[in-house]
Amino acid sequence: MYEARQKEEILLQNGDMGEGIAFSNLALIKYWGKDEGVQNPSTSSISVHLPLFKTYTRIFVKGRFKPDPFTHFTHSTHFSDKNPLSLPLSVMTQQTPCSLKLESFLDTFFRGWAPEIKVHVETFNGFPTACGIASSASGYAALVKALGHLIQIEKWLEPHEVKEWMESWSRLGSGSACRSISESPFVYWKKETFHQKMEDLIFHPKYQKLEHSIALVNTDAKELSSSDGHKNAPTSPFYEIRRRKNIQDCKELSEALAEGHFSLIRRITEEDALLMHGISLTGKLKHQYFSFKTQSVIERFLFLRNEMSLDEALWTLDAGKNPHFLFMPSAKPLMERLKLEFPEMKWMTGFSHL
Ligand code: DP6
Repeated sequence: MYEARQKEEILLQNGDMGEGIAFSNLALIKYWGKDEGVQNPSTSSISVHLPLFKTYTRIFVKGRFKPDPFTHFTHSTHFSDKNPLSLPLSVMTQQTPCSLKLESFLDTFFRGWAPEIKVHVETFNGFPTACGIASSASGYAALVKALGHLIQIEKWLEPHEVKEWMESWSRLGSGSACRSISESPFVYWKKETFHQKMEDLIFHPKYQKLEHSIALVNTDAKELSSSDGHKNAPTSPFYEIRRRKNIQDCKELSEALAEGHFSLIRRITEEDALLMHGISLTGKLKHQYFSFKTQSVIERFLFLRNEMSLDEALWTLDAGKNPHFLFMPSAKPLMERLKLEFPEMKWMTGFSHL
C-alpha cells in the first residue's frame, strides 16, 4: 500500500468517486477519557450497533489544483427521518464549508501522496446529529469506508488488513467510530498495555430479539463536545475508580452477552453510565450533559420497571440529553407505558431487533 502510494500507482482524477455506509453505535461500557498518544482511550469499551441510525457518505474528486487550505473541501449534509438511501439525490441542497476537524482529517489522509487534491464530500444522516446519538461514529466510519472505496483499498490490502486500516483511520476521526466499522451487533474496543484491538463479541441468540428506543428530549447540539468531555474526565476523583473497574466490567459484560444474563448486562451498563456522568459532573468543568427532562424520563422508567416487575430493560445515556433504552420483548409493556406518560416526546429506534 505504502509502496503503491510512493510509486503513484494510486491515481485519483477528476470524477472519481467513493461511497460508504456505516451504522451508529451505542456504548454499553463507554469510552470516556484518553491516555497519552493518538486517540488512545483510557479504558476499553463495548457497544451495540444501531443499524437504523446510519450515515451514507460520498466523496468526489474535483481535480488536482494548487492547494488553498481553506477551500480544499466542501461538505454537504442533509438530515432526514427517512432512510438516507431512499432519498433522491436532488434533495442535497445545503452546502457548508467543511468543519476544521473534517478538513484536518482529510488533509492528514491525503497529505503524503495527493496534497494538492480537491474533494467534495456529501453526507446523509438519517438521524439528528451531535446530540448524543453518536453521529460522529457513523460519520467518520462512513467517510473512511468511502475513502477506502475511492482508493480501491481492497486492491492493496488483505481483507483483515482492510478492516484494521478502516478501524485505525476512523478512530483518528472520532474514537467511537472504530466500533462502527464492523457490522457485528456487539463490538469490543479492547485496550491492552501497548496497543488496542477490535473484537466482534458472540452473543446469546435471545438478543436477536433485543429492542432499542431513544427519547428525543432535545436534539440541539450538545453544549460540551465529547472531545472536551474526554479532556475534563481525568480531573474527576471518580476517573481512576472507573478505570480500575473497567477490565472486570468488560469481562463480565462479554460473558453476560454470550450467556444471556440480562440482569448483569443491566447492572454493568447502568453503572457505567452513572459513573461516566458522575465523572463529568465532578471534573474541573462540572459539566452536566443531561437535563431535568432527561432525569424525569429515566426516573419514570425506573419506577415503572420496579412497579411492573419487568426487569429485562435498561437505560443508558451518552454525552447528550437523550436517554437510550434497550429491552427484551417481555419488557415491551413497560416501554409502552413510558411512552404514554410522555405524549409530547418524540421517540426513535436504532433497531427493533438485531
Ligand atoms: C459518550 O468518540 O465522540 O459517546 O474520540 O474525541 O471524537 P472523540 O470522542 P467520541 O466519544 C464518545 C463518547 C461517548 C461514549 C462512547 O461512545 O463510548
